[in-house]
Amino acid sequence: MRDLRKKDKLEEAAGDALNKTLTIQRLDVCSDDSVAECMSNLPEKRLDVLVNNAGVGLVGPVESTSIDDMKRVFEANFFGAVRMIKAVLPEMKQRQSGHIVVISSVMGLQGIPFNDVYAASKFAVEGFCESLAVQLLKFNIFISLVEPGPANTEFEMKLMEEVARSEYPGVDPATVKYFKEIYLPASHEIFTTLGQTPESVAKAVVRVIGKTRPPFRKQTNTLYKPLVALKYADSSGHLSVGTFYTLLFRFPGLFHFSMKMLRCLTCPPHHGLFHFSMKMLRCLTCNCFRSRVAPS
Ligand SMILES: NC(=O)c1ccc[n+]([C@@H]2O[C@H](COP(=O)([O-])OP(=O)(O)OC[C@H]3O[C@@H](n4cnc5c(N)ncnc54)[C@H](OP(=O)(O)O)[C@@H]3O)[C@@H](O)[C@H]2O)c1
Repeated sequence: MRDLRKKDKLEEAAGDALNKTLTIQRLDVCSDDSVAECMSNLPEKRLDVLVNNAGVGLVGPVESTSIDDMKRVFEANFFGAVRMIKAVLPEMKQRQSGHIVVISSVMGLQGIPFNDVYAASKFAVEGFCESLAVQLLKFNIFISLVEPGPANTEFEMKLMEEVARSEYPGVDPATVKYFKEIYLPASHEIFTTLGQTPESVAKAVVRVIGKTRPPFRKQTNTLYKPLVALKYADSSGHLSVGTFYTLLFRFPGLFHFSMKMLRCLTCPPHHGLFHFSMKMLRCLTCNCFRSRVAPS
């Protein structure tokens, strides 16, 4: 943890494992010194599995986001992960064994309005890891990108607190209105409808670590998969850009309806209906709909 004053909750959750199989160390992934100190405190200076979870969010109109704030996001999400990977690679390569898990995001695969910089930082992580994964196989080292969709952690709360404080200087009123009146309620709805628990993401990470041949990518939120699939269904990009535009700006009623359907259908008695509604969502985004989703 970068701030050990916050360790009480973690210690409590660790229970009997504390100081036996679990120890807590100070680590700021944005600092070379801190990473070096943490690595030097490891027993035998050896790491079998690195799970790179540290990350920060940023949401809002890009015109009001300073370059320094953008760099802060890249410093934690991209360079933080790179710094950690660089720190563990020499020893893993020498031992010809190791597994690096990086918590990316569905936003590392698919951009979302008003999350431009956060998505860019996760795209950067994906490109870095995809390139490195090939070379590392030669050393019997695996990389896995775990890609959660919306997860109900402190992440969204921190972002909403920031949004409440911001006034968005220099942004035109129409953009501020789209952000506050269309994007924010839609985002809240997505989190309440599709949001996973952090425990289920952690379990997905454990399953990835347990595999003899770990997958390079693992999306943890099945409800979100059809939205990501849009990108791969049409290499021109019209389908994904157009569908998000349609759902958010042209037919927001359809978006609310799909979310309500999903919320009601994800409860067990309605699982059959749930699969039907996922088929509907896929159908809404298929080729025959594409001609109608071009932005006007
Ligand atoms: N929540 C989502 O919807 C969601 C979806 C997809 C992917 N993710 C990714 O999941 C990961 C975990 O996020 P979360 O949802 O659990 O959010 P979170 O509750 O805000 O946790 C992020 C953690 O990263 C730590 N951190 C930030 N900067 C750090 C640094 N420089 N050095 C060390 N630790 C640092 C934070 O520490 P402090 O407590 O000190 O700030 C915090 O413990 C992130 O990589 C995030 O991008 C989240």
